[in-house]
Amino acid sequence: VDRANVAPKLLHWYDRHHRTLPWRAAPGEAAPDPYRVWLSEVMLQQTTVAAVKSYFAAFTTRWPTVEALAAAPDAEVMSAWAGLGYYARARNLIACARAVVDEHGGRFPSEEAELRALPGLGAYTAAAIAAIAFGQRAVVVDANVERIVERLFAIAEPLPKGRTAIYAATASITPDDHAGDFAQAMMDLGSSLCAPRKPACALCPLSEECAAFRAGEPERYPVKAAK
Ligand code: ADE
Repeated sequence: VDRANVAPKLLHWYDRHHRTLPWRAAPGEAAPDPYRVWLSEVMLQQTTVAAVKSYFAAFTTRWPTVEALAAAPDAEVMSAWAGLGYYARARNLIACARAVVDEHGGRFPSEEAELRALPGLGAYTAAAIAAIAFGQRAVVVDANVERIVERLFAIAEPLPKGRTAIYAATASITPDDHAGDFAQAMMDLGSSLCAPRKPACALCPLSEECAAFRAGEPERYPVKAAK
């Protein structure tokens, strides 16, 4: 893998092939509202993009700002969440909105470490918000990124042990600029060409860099732990 080639090639692909999603800015446009980035990332944690869209529209129409959401009665937020599942996420959503209002004056903090301290925000979500909403260079690793990076670098060590190598490899290809577009480009690549089964390597902007493709075995990855 020529590490320096990965982000430029991927960002070029993203310019042409990105998904247009309600919580995104167009590539290169001003960053989207942190509230919308946060809300979408929390909703997307265990739920598909297709299922999230209508909930995202309903929430942002009813509660257009973090202040509005923080002021809403718990029961209203919980019933608006009904159907998305994993209700601990909704409880944390309410707690997080109130923490942003009470502890940060209604503005999401821009640093990954401060985001990480908010209720319900794990390493992935904090990094995603820092990169996408604030343009920070943060290393964003979700399940799609894990699979892509395992293939790019032929990382055969199964999860969870493989995570250390995956994080380091992802850090080594994350650009200083456009880290948010880079993260979302990885998500789009993972949900389209670099699918778990039958990856479309012939169309992939990263195939020349990809160790698994070069070895002729992209589907060997992710390697599952022996039971
Ligand atoms: N899954 C989680 N976050 C996402 C995002 N910002 N775009 C597309 N899919 C996602």
